[in-house]
Amino acid sequence: MSTATESTAGSSAGLRGVVAAQSAIGDVNGEEGILIYQGYDIHDLAENSSFEEVIFLLWNGRLPKSDELENLKSQFRANYAAPAEVIELMKTFPKDADPMDVLRTSVSALDFYDKEGHGTDREHALKAAIKLTAQIGTLVAAWERIRTGKEIVAPDTNLCIAENFLYMFHGKRAEADEARMFDIALILHADHELNASTFTTRVIAGTLADVYGAVTGGIAALSGPLHGGANTNVMKMLKEIGSEDAIDTWLDKALEEKRKIMGIGHAVYKTEDPRATWLRKFSRTLGEKKGDMKWFNMSQKIEKAMLEKKGMYPNVDFYSASAYYLMDIPLDQFTPIFAISRISGWTGHILEQYGNNKLIRPRAEYIGERDVKYTPIEER
Ligand code: COA
Repeated sequence: MSTATESTAGSSAGLRGVVAAQSAIGDVNGEEGILIYQGYDIHDLAENSSFEEVIFLLWNGRLPKSDELENLKSQFRANYAAPAEVIELMKTFPKDADPMDVLRTSVSALDFYDKEGHGTDREHALKAAIKLTAQIGTLVAAWERIRTGKEIVAPDTNLCIAENFLYMFHGKRAEADEARMFDIALILHADHELNASTFTTRVIAGTLADVYGAVTGGIAALSGPLHGGANTNVMKMLKEIGSEDAIDTWLDKALEEKRKIMGIGHAVYKTEDPRATWLRKFSRTLGEKKGDMKWFNMSQKIEKAMLEKKGMYPNVDFYSASAYYLMDIPLDQFTPIFAISRISGWTGHILEQYGNNKLIRPRAEYIGERDVKYTPIEER
């Protein structure tokens, strides 16, 4: 007989609304569209902070003093270069491999080359978090260069994480306004409470597996189209529709076929996702700067139609798609870029989990048969 204390699965499929952990890292108010990291409103951080400062905040629960921030930045910079063995391994991967699959495998391989990164005490776990956060962008950029037959660009230790990533990825320094927009995009994607990938990392960390294992699992969870993979699919959708004129017919047909419109809707937000507010602005600004307003205009029209027809709002992935596209980033690299940011939230949650650990082990409501007698194979 089942010993599960109560059956909640039917009423909370997908664990919607179930509180599965206590956390001081971040909170989402879905009704009012408010996102906070350690008490700070996301708009305040996006306006005033840097990605490195937000990482410190997520890991330590407070904003850094200037020497603490400088210290963290120099630790990242000292660790930007990924182990040569991992880069060599990546060169053996099929050139058409999905960048998220490449990232999952190469992040997992980093584990072999971090002799100190296996401990789950704060000191060792933090060292692994610093290395991973510093190197994940290096891996994403290296794969872009490898698969397109270009020379790999070594990190520039004078640059912050956002600038350095764009430099290694494109092989040239980003213009200051684009680097700042990218830095803010990293801030916006850093944490989002118990989303699917963060929950995955906490479940893995809860077994006292190491940080590399937990982050590898997080990358796998993020890759799905219902989670981080949505940004790539938004841009695919815009391209599939092709023009503003085609939107009405395309959308009516898609809704009739019960297709999910990518980048729209959210499991928690029932109003505007505050991150979309910033990304909408970036999509417009970049469109104006590059003289290519097509994607922003199409996105706006879809946003308006989805609000009218379904009462649904855009999420973080909706406008990041056209913003990244206008930064010359290939579609299938949008989700790896999400991971470059979200690793800060994942590692924050992993540290928090280790700090007050209890194995995460829920129950399932058994709906199968019971007392079935074994039938020999020849009698089936
Ligand atoms: N387009 C069209 N209809 C949508 C929709 C979308 N993007 N998202 C939800 N719906 C509809 C569902 O079809 C369902 O309708 P029904 O009740 O008639 O069957 C209803 O809204 C509830 O959908 P459900 O999937 O249960 O909502 P959810 O809260 O679990 O889903 C998402 C949240 C994010 C998974 C969902 O909105 C989605 O798939 N969005 C597209 C993918 C995406 O952008 N993901 C990134 C999230 S940050």
